Amino acid sequence: MDVRRIPTEPFDDQRPGTAGLRRKVRRFRQPHYLENFLQAVFDAAGDFRGQVLVAGGDGRFWNAEALAVLFRVAAGNGVRRMIVGRGGMLSTPAASHLIRTRGAAGGFLLTASHNPGGPDGDFGVKFDTANGGQAPESLTDAVWRRTLELREYRVAEVGRLDLDRPGVQQAGPMEVEIVDPVADYAALMERLFDFDRIRSLLASPGFRLRFDALNAVTGPYAVEILERRLGAPPGSVVNAVPLPDFGGLHPDPNPVDAAHLVDWMNGPDAGDLAAASDGDGDRNMIVGRGMVVSPGDSLAVLAEHAGKVPGYAAGLAGVARSMPTTRAVDRVAADLGIPCYETPTGWRYFCNLLDAGLIDLCGEESFGTSSSHAREKDGLWAVLFWLNLVAATGRPVTRLVEDHWRRFGRHAFCRHDWFIPDGEAAARVMAGLEERLATLAGQEIAGTRVTTADSFTYLDPVDGSASAGQGIRVFLEDGARLVYRLSGTGTEGATLRIYLERYLAPDASHAGDGPALTASLGHAAAELARIGELAGVHEPAGVI
Ligand code: G1P
Ligand code: ZN
Repeated sequence: MDVRRIPTEPFDDQRPGTAGLRRKVRRFRQPHYLENFLQAVFDAAGDFRGQVLVAGGDGRFWNAEALAVLFRVAAGNGVRRMIVGRGGMLSTPAASHLIRTRGAAGGFLLTASHNPGGPDGDFGVKFDTANGGQAPESLTDAVWRRTLELREYRVAEVGRLDLDRPGVQQAGPMEVEIVDPVADYAALMERLFDFDRIRSLLASPGFRLRFDALNAVTGPYAVEILERRLGAPPGSVVNAVPLPDFGGLHPDPNPVDAAHLVDWMNGPDAGDLAAASDGDGDRNMIVGRGMVVSPGDSLAVLAEHAGKVPGYAAGLAGVARSMPTTRAVDRVAADLGIPCYETPTGWRYFCNLLDAGLIDLCGEESFGTSSSHAREKDGLWAVLFWLNLVAATGRPVTRLVEDHWRRFGRHAFCRHDWFIPDGEAAARVMAGLEERLATLAGQEIAGTRVTTADSFTYLDPVDGSASAGQGIRVFLEDGARLVYRLSGTGTEGATLRIYLERYLAPDASHAGDGPALTASLGHAAAELARIGELAGVHEPAGVI
């Protein structure tokens, strides 16, 4: 079979960010752009000749076209078989699971997660390694270096494929196996959670669940698991059909983009548990009656009660959270006598800890939670965990959180996203903070005082690698903390994220929501960083 070598020129903007390469669809559609990037992954990640890879996407605009390009490049690079979700779709956690169960050498996930879709929206490519986890920094750096020197890529023709027909098809020199994207994943969930108990909860009079798939990839997974296997009434899963433009919704499960769910849970007709996931199914938002569960609290509550869930009944080896995530789970870990690791932002940093068996639960403030069952974060898994906890304890979501606060205290949290159109100005803000780090201790701010401030460096306890410059931390005397870092997932300008955390003792009042409880910290943080002065921006674009 003919492998053709196509001459190309390097692109200078193919450095993978926090979670793969994300760019405007328009950029990805430039001739050779996607081919170059894929070839760089093939060159940097090792020899995949004769190997099996997994592929699937979140179904966003350009999913099918990108998959066709991937097939040609994979065939040109000697891949033996691609395992693909029916219709070219796989949620991120299901892909991670499939890579692991099928012993694949890795997988390509075509997703820009919660970024907007459509011809003017974003596209993305993530590469997962054989452990089902996102490529580590050493590999993404190697891919990036390769993109800067690439002069040709290899393709082979694969002919016409029917992505809706399960089974194996010949695709030129390669095989393509179409699989049910849901089956293996659903079976895994049945092993982890007490489905009988959840079924009784969902059947109990008056209990109402709503899961909003936001017209993204989790629809079919949620319908199969929540409605078919667990018996939630039909219609409990809403916006269940994946659409290329997500039906105009922004598939990001947070109180701003999924405000309709929060309104429902705050209103007179509120249900018992509402939840949503994102474009590729790895994020989750849990809403109890009158309360959005802050992701840091969610992780802490799951850790506190993990022993009540079959998959975790043997106890947790340890837990981990990304650095900007609140330190609520640290208190639970201390109480359980297990280690708690603090990693940089981005799921890839958890994977070594998971592979080494050092942790069983981990999470990020950006509505991401997961466990040792996968090497990606997992939206539906989190929903099932919460349902299992409500079923096992008989306590509603809101009670579980409030009881947690009474026992451990509350880490109120909010994130301010400052959109700074000029990337260089954003870099100046960060550099300015960095320069002043040594002078911050003792400075008065927001009615308290800075105790210490540093730039976060992570030392991976498994492979000894160091990741420097992972965000600036400012610790305050009253237990509060400010964190600054630049987003690595945007496709234009820069977003400076400021993470605000305030601690309220167990016996203090816990009333109020995260944004209100941290508002004064937000002002102080913006002033401390001199954002207005250095970047000419005076308000955060988003408060989450
Ligand atoms: C954001 C989140 C981060 C998450 C990533 C991928 O990255 O902050 O926690 O892992 O999306 O979902 P950022 O844009 O901050 O680099
Ligand atoms: Zn995602």
